[in-house]
Amino acid sequence: MTTRPFLITVLPGDGVGLEVTPEAVKILEVVARCSSRAFEFVEFPIGGVSVDLLGVSMTDECLEHCKKSDAVLLGALGDPKYNHLPPAELPERALLVLRKELNCYANLRPAYEFPGLTDASPLRPELLAGTDFVVVRELTGGLYYGEPRGIDNDRAFNTMVYTRPEIERVAHTAFQVARTRRNHVTSVDKANALEVSRLWRQVVNEVHASYSDVKLDHLFVDNCAMALVTRPNSFDVILTENTFGDILSDEAAVLTGSIGLLPSASIGGDVGLYEPVHGSAPDIAGQGIANPIATILSAALLLRHSANMLDEAQAVEEAVRAILAKGHATPDIMRDGCNAVNTTEMGTLIAEELERSLS
Ligand code: IPM
Ligand code: MG
Repeated sequence: MTTRPFLITVLPGDGVGLEVTPEAVKILEVVARCSSRAFEFVEFPIGGVSVDLLGVSMTDECLEHCKKSDAVLLGALGDPKYNHLPPAELPERALLVLRKELNCYANLRPAYEFPGLTDASPLRPELLAGTDFVVVRELTGGLYYGEPRGIDNDRAFNTMVYTRPEIERVAHTAFQVARTRRNHVTSVDKANALEVSRLWRQVVNEVHASYSDVKLDHLFVDNCAMALVTRPNSFDVILTENTFGDILSDEAAVLTGSIGLLPSASIGGDVGLYEPVHGSAPDIAGQGIANPIATILSAALLLRHSANMLDEAQAVEEAVRAILAKGHATPDIMRDGCNAVNTTEMGTLIAEELERSLS
């Protein structure tokens, strides 16, 4: 019996996205070669590159292809040369539309210590020790999508709105993720100031009733921002709404050494979307020095959450750890005594390590 190949839409996007995405594809090609699974990759421009080529940040053809894929692998979107455009025309808008259209309401952003990288973290090693948590960020609601929104001369407004079903479904995801980890959810809100947060807290408490094996506590977002740098190792799963999750996940990312390391999975709908936490990094784009690890680890999450290839996902993660432990480093994680490598060299080292472990 022949099964059709697992279809992955590849969207490199802008800036360093164009450099790191091929490295993640390289890793997935090794997985395909070493397993009995066939992958088909179809690439589309998106973001500023698509505006330049096709006049829009995402074509209908691209969106339709994403919807019929088994998974989408994305690099990064955004180009400062478009900063003068209104928000609705920015390259980044394609990402927001894609997340919504794919109904990827739960964004998982893991943060954990990497071997040998303790010195790259801004935190003292004793504070960082044992840090291993995941931010579950609600991704298709809140301020990013709320209506009304607008700007007229000296007055501008956005609306933070959440409905009970939107909160319920992402809360279920967080409790289920906690069950695969250390059974502890911290829900983050601003219930001392915002009505939306009041509802958030109430619904999360109600959903928790079905997960009595999981511990739940609540933190205000300002307090959480502080706790992330004073006691990061006390968190397991952080559940929060879209904007708070955006901010806290950047903070989380830098704790572990470099934002160039952290992957994300956006799930909930039929098609999962996998992308690094970092952006298009125009300051270093085009130099071939971006760290491809965040995108490679996003490909590992794709294997785990969309392709159900759990062993292979773990093998990719272990290959990354092995190469880091051997002291290979792109500039963002360069430390004394390390071997300096560029983007493609890092990708190739990990691919070779993976090939050895899978064959
Ligand atoms: C992220 C990014 C995006 C977001 C931007 C590019 C719109 O910061 O994925 O965290 O805010 O969601
Ligand atoms: Mg962000």
